[in-house]
Amino acid sequence: MSNQKTALITGASNGIGLALAKVFARNGYDIIAVARNEEKLAQASREMSQEGAKVHTFSADLSRYEEVEALHDKVREAGFELDALVINAGQGLGGRFIGGTELAKELQLIRLNVDSYVHLSKLFLPDMINRGGGHVLMTSSVSGTAPIPFEAVYGASKAFVNSFFWAIRNETKGSGLNMTLLMPGATETNFFKNAGQTDTTVGASQPTQPEEVAERAWYALMSGHEYVYGDDAAEHEGDVLNRLQSESQKAQRHRIISEPGSANK
Ligand SMILES: NC(=O)c1ccc[n+]([C@@H]2O[C@H](COP(=O)([O-])OP(=O)(O)OC[C@H]3O[C@@H](n4cnc5c(N)ncnc54)[C@H](OP(=O)(O)O)[C@@H]3O)[C@@H](O)[C@H]2O)c1
Repeated sequence: MSNQKTALITGASNGIGLALAKVFARNGYDIIAVARNEEKLAQASREMSQEGAKVHTFSADLSRYEEVEALHDKVREAGFELDALVINAGQGLGGRFIGGTELAKELQLIRLNVDSYVHLSKLFLPDMINRGGGHVLMTSSVSGTAPIPFEAVYGASKAFVNSFFWAIRNETKGSGLNMTLLMPGATETNFFKNAGQTDTTVGASQPTQPEEVAERAWYALMSGHEYVYGDDAAEHEGDVLNRLQSESQKAQRHRIISEPGSANK
């Protein structure tokens, strides 16, 4: 039997997105799961089904403008009406900006972490508002609250998401949208491996499980909280240290854990 509510979740085939999809599924949502790799999506979809959801998978590379458009078209054509939207798919990239990281990878990161967040919001939020509203969760990062040396473009992309989130949350007040910003700290997913950061202190120690992040996010979203961190350490970093220290102090504090090779020192 189908559940009645529908949540579209990007990056739902792994990590925080998959954990979120399972929480939504347990709480009566059918899931539209979006990611690139179809095999991983199929496997993840079985896990969501076991939690009671009817699952529809859409393979899309959200860093590509036309694939975001096509996703929106397909969702509309299939007649789905979203009760919840989780914009979560993002990637990291570690390394020294000058002489280390590749520009092509940085621009690709911006297309996913920045462009697709704007693009998905532009297309799906009006549909939701026209239907009276719904829940919106946007995954940013505690990295959005500080400059992040050796992840310079990643940190800046998340600072963009934070600013963008607060602005459109304010603009859409009274529209029926209930919007929460999720800012995880280091979480055990494929994120750091894919970002080439397993030799950094932050990449080598990820005590928080994605399931914990997802539970906190669900509670915050359903309670109408404006924002939530993925764990207590991220909350302390974001709401205490990063509010007290200057930008250069925050950058210096972070480089100790994000510098390549720092895990081996
Ligand atoms: N893990 C952490 O420590 C951490 C901390 C702070 C914030 N975050 C944020 O949390 C979010 C989720 O990350 P995660 O840790 O769960 O990472 P993950 O385990 O690497 O999962 C990323 C998900 O996004 C999908 N994805 C990646 N590139 C995509 C693309 N171009 N188009 C569509 N889907 C794409 C992946 O599937 P495919 O590869 O098959 O596309 C996968 O489903 C990201 O926004 C990240 O910045 C993570």
